[in-house]
Amino acid sequence: MPLSLAFVTISAFIAAHTVSALPQATSTSSTLPTATSVVKGLNYLARNAGKLYFGTATDNSELNDTTYTGIMDNYLHFGQLTPENSMKWDATEPEPGVFTFAAGDVIANLAKSYGMYLRGHNCVWYEQLPDWVTVNNYNATGLTAVVENHVSTLVGHYADAWDVINEPLNDNGTFREDVFYNTLGTEYIPIALKAARAADPNAKLYINDYNIEYVGTKSTALQNLIKELQADGVPIDGVGMESHFIVGEVPTTLVENFQAYADLGLEFAITELDIRMELPETAALLEQQKTDFYTVVNACLSVSACKGVTVWDWTDKYSWIPSTFPGYGAACPWDANFVRKPAFDGIAIAFEGGSI
Ligand SMILES: *[C@@H]1O[C@H](CO)[C@@H](O)[C@H](O)[C@H]1NC(C)=O
Ligand SMILES: *[C@@H]1O[C@H](CO)[C@@H](O)[C@H](O)[C@H]1NC(C)=O
Ligand SMILES: *[C@@H]1O[C@H](CO)[C@@H](O)[C@H](O)[C@H]1NC(C)=O
Repeated sequence: MPLSLAFVTISAFIAAHTVSALPQATSTSSTLPTATSVVKGLNYLARNAGKLYFGTATDNSELNDTTYTGIMDNYLHFGQLTPENSMKWDATEPEPGVFTFAAGDVIANLAKSYGMYLRGHNCVWYEQLPDWVTVNNYNATGLTAVVENHVSTLVGHYADAWDVINEPLNDNGTFREDVFYNTLGTEYIPIALKAARAADPNAKLYINDYNIEYVGTKSTALQNLIKELQADGVPIDGVGMESHFIVGEVPTTLVENFQAYADLGLEFAITELDIRMELPETAALLEQQKTDFYTVVNACLSVSACKGVTVWDWTDKYSWIPSTFPGYGAACPWDANFVRKPAFDGIAIAFEGGSI
């Protein structure tokens, strides 16, 4: 599907739906501060600021929660979706050559029905990989065929943008030694990207990773990889800056680093933003988190090659943080009771061009 057809305009959306400004939070279970801004929605503000979207990751297991979907299924709030799990390799090709799209299609159809941009996530990653990819001990010829078939089937089925390569680098900038690298060396990257381009010439092809959001060894290594790909004529359109940050520790070199990718002729996106804090939540931490979300969104606004901002789920109710980083949480702009936090204001103020 051509990109342009995937979108409704905001004016068309408003004409077709009765909308009112997001109300100020009216109830909260504690004395912690909440958001105060009265806006039509963060995607509305992102579009007005010239970005393609403000979006969120979501997962199939969350979609039976009608309070959750009641807020999310609204183009004014979210203009883009990323499936957290249902397009990963274990979910889509559990046995060699046997593809299951049922769960992924639920998210894709949800995005389509609301005119939201869809980020496919992901094609080639060392985690959530079914055992057969590793235990079958494919030689280089065999694994090349496996990668090509997986990538072309996925990318040919879904549209818009794809994290074709996910997390290929170690933090010290070397290549991660997974089954793909150990069998094919760095060649698995062009193999996957070329298969993706052949399957859908219109999809934006990304490499997505973390700790590349700021100036440093890992970001330099990724830029060097991209220069090699470009020199070899390998299709690469963009870089996904995951952006799983910690309150009070947002990197100070975001803009400088983002500009370096833009200077390579690439687009990029904030793909998995959340900003976790050490629990318990306090008013001071929530205020710092507001500043931190503002800083990240403002960095995207500072570089035109930044296409949009995606949070890694929008409510603390479904955040991956507490189970992955024990003792940490409260990383999202809405709390677990769907009350908007000061972080929401930080995002809104940045998109509105204000300062805090
Ligand atoms: C939604 O389904 C999941 C299982 O997929 C279940 O754990 C959860 O309790 C359900 N939530 C609601 C609100 O029904
Ligand atoms: C790779 O594996 C396939 C299937 O097992 C085999 O037919 C082929 O000869 C192998 N190629 C090399 C170069 O070893
Ligand atoms: C880089 O990090 C990886 C993963 O932690 C490690 O295996 C490798 O030895 C490191 N390489 C160098 C040169 O430090």
